[in-house]
Amino acid sequence: MIKVIVCENYEEISKKSAEIVAKQINEKADSILGLATGSTPVGMYKELIEMNKSGKLDFSKVGSFNLDEYYPIKHSDDQSYYYFMNDNLFAHINIDIANTNIPNGEAEDADAECERYEKLIDESAGIDLQILGIGHNGHIGFNEPDEKLITKTHLTALTEDTIMANSRFFASADEVPTAAITMGMETIMKAKKIILLASGKNKSDAVSMLTDNYIDTSCPATLLKLHPDVTLICDKDAFLK
Ligand code: PGA
Repeated sequence: MIKVIVCENYEEISKKSAEIVAKQINEKADSILGLATGSTPVGMYKELIEMNKSGKLDFSKVGSFNLDEYYPIKHSDDQSYYYFMNDNLFAHINIDIANTNIPNGEAEDADAECERYEKLIDESAGIDLQILGIGHNGHIGFNEPDEKLITKTHLTALTEDTIMANSRFFASADEVPTAAITMGMETIMKAKKIILLASGKNKSDAVSMLTDNYIDTSCPATLLKLHPDVTLICDKDAFLK
C-alpha cells in the first residue's frame, strides 16, 4: 500500500520531501539517490541546496542515478536533463560530480547505453531513496501508459500527451524530443524506498488511481502499490478530484 502525506501546498511538499532526503543522507552518508527532473522536485532541490549551504547537509559521499534523459540530446542543450540537474542541484551543492549518473543523451548507440546504465545501477550498492514525479497521464520516468510496460532501462517514444505537457519548456511542441532513455519499471522498483511527489489539480486523476486496490498499466505509477515502501507526498489540489 502506498502511504500518503497530504500537504497544504507546494511549499510544504518541497520542505517535507527535502526533510526525507536529508534524513536519508544524515543516516547514511554514502546514500545513493534516484533523482527526477520536471517542475515538481525543483522546490525540494532548493531546500536541499539551502541545507547544504548552511552546513546542515553533506553531499560529499552521496551518489545518484537520474531516472531518464531525452534522446538524442546534447549535454549542453538547456532542455537536457544533464543541464537541468547541474542548473537545479549539482552546481550548488558539494556532491562529487563523478558520483552522479544520468543516461547519456549523446550516446551513439541508445541500446548499448541502456544496457550500460542498467548494469551500472546493478553493480552499485543500489538506490536507497528514489524520488519520483508523476505525469498527468500516470507515467513515472518516461514509462508511458501502455498495454505492456518494460522492466529495464530502455529507449522509448514519448506519448503525444507527454510531448504536449513538456512543450511548456520549449518554444513549440515541434521542438520537444520524441524519444527518451528511461529506467524501466523494475529498475525503479528495485529502489529500497520511494517518494512520489505530486502537486496541482492536473495531477489529481493520476493520483486518484494510487489509493485504490488496482494496478493498471494505463497508469504506470499504480505498479508502485507492489513496492513495500512508497510514500506519496502531494498537495490538496492533487489529492482531491
Ligand atoms: P512535472 O513532471 O514535475 O514537470 O509535472 C512530472 C513528470 O512528468 O514525471
